[in-house]
Amino acid sequence: MTSTFIRPAVESDLPHLPEIERSASDAFRGTDLDVEALANVTPAEGWRGALRAGTLWVMDDGAGEPIAFLGAETAGEELHIRELDVVLDRQGQGLGRRLLAHVIAWARAARLKAMTLTTFRTVPWNGPFYASMGFRALSPAEASPRLAEILENEARQGLDPAQRCAMRLDLHRGDSAS
Ligand SMILES: CC(C)(COP(=O)(O)OP(=O)(O)OC[C@H]1O[C@@H](n2cnc3c(N)ncnc32)[C@H](O)[C@@H]1OP(=O)(O)O)[C@@H](O)C(=O)NCCC(=O)NCCS
Repeated sequence: MTSTFIRPAVESDLPHLPEIERSASDAFRGTDLDVEALANVTPAEGWRGALRAGTLWVMDDGAGEPIAFLGAETAGEELHIRELDVVLDRQGQGLGRRLLAHVIAWARAARLKAMTLTTFRTVPWNGPFYASMGFRALSPAEASPRLAEILENEARQGLDPAQRCAMRLDLHRGDSAS
């Protein structure tokens, strides 16, 4: 049996990423969220910058095919997660947690100060999942202008602002070497 592993994305992964995002978002069917608002996936080309920057990782199924990805971008000394998706039929098997843990370790090693993201506050595999990995939901007053702008853009795209929040994980806290 082949086993999954995490690797930096390569060019040939790009066409798979919209399919993975579309499949992942099927997890929201059956929730009270507006699934149509989630139907807009990032086109493959939209990941090229992250690919070049080295902030795009995939979970390889062991045979070269990506089945999950995490795409991020650095903003100053912070790493912002733009997207984390696992294909529907592989969700709930620990892959998302492994991928996120890998990228947190990467960000720590890169001496970045924090990681940020925006997500659904109460969906179990969103806000509570990130909280279980150490992320803290920010109040609107705590959100940086960069995060506030992302939340505003999401609202313009049809996501209910009452259900969205920004989250932050401080890295190197209490680390005397930092
Ligand atoms: C969010 C996502 C990447 C998590 O990856 P995953 O491989 O499914 O998650 P894991 O198996 O690692 O589980 C992580 C935690 O999420 C929660 N979770 C995952 N699937 C869940 C489900 N169907 N119902 C309830 N909780 C769930 C659990 O708390 C779980 O922790 P546990 O296994 O210790 O109980 C994946 O579910 C996904 O792609 N979802 C749709 C897209 C999405 O919401 N992306 C994040 C946007 S910010």
